[in-house]
Parts: sequence; C-alpha cells; structure tokens
Amino acid sequence: MAETAVPVCAVADLPPGGVKSFDIEGERIAIYNIEGTFYATEAYCTHAAADLGDGMLEGDVVECSLHFGAFHVPSGKAVQAPCFTDLKIFRTEVRDGRVFVDLSSTGAGAT
Ligand code: FES
Repeated sequence: MAETAVPVCAVADLPPGGVKSFDIEGERIAIYNIEGTFYATEAYCTHAAADLGDGMLEGDVVECSLHFGAFHVPSGKAVQAPCFTDLKIFRTEVRDGRVFVDLSSTGAGAT
C-alpha cells in the first residue's frame, strides 16, 4: 500500500451501489462502491459544488442531486450536462476491511 493512503471508512459502511462523502485531510472526498470495487473522486460537483455524496449512483455513473448532471466514476469524466468539467479521481485500496484513499494520486479524469 502506498504510504500516503489514509483510511476512510469500513467496507461494511458502504454497500454496493452506495456513495458517501467524507472529510479527509481537509478535502471532501466521495467514495463509491460499484459492484464491490471502491472508487474515490472529489466530492463537489464541478458545476455548482453540490456534494456528490448526496447523488444517485447508477451503475458506474453518479448523478448530481442538484441539477442532475452526471459523471463516469472510474474516470471522473463529465457525461451529462450541465457538467462539462471532469472530476479529480483518487486511487483507493481495501485492507483489513477498510477503504483507504491516496490523496497524492490526484489525476484528472481519463479522456
Ligand atoms: Fe451538480 Fe449542478 S451542482 S449538476
């Protein structure tokens, strides 16, 4: 595991199909469980900063609760208006029943 990965939550806290946001080292990070695989993105929607932890996860796409824009979670790519700017994504790891996120692994969404 990367030394910079920090624990976020227990695997059991976030069942498949779930999304929740957490405050981690001064950042608001959304964690997603997509069929047992965990993903992390910046939590605030790039349109008008709604918290995607309040959004709806459908497959591998999260829909923002405020204006219903959407992002492809594994890549962070904006896929539905009014969202056009991709989310930052972070690497996750699971160890000992806990989800870790590496905030140093920041990257723009894949193109
Ligand atoms: Fe997310 Fe507008 S704040 S779509």
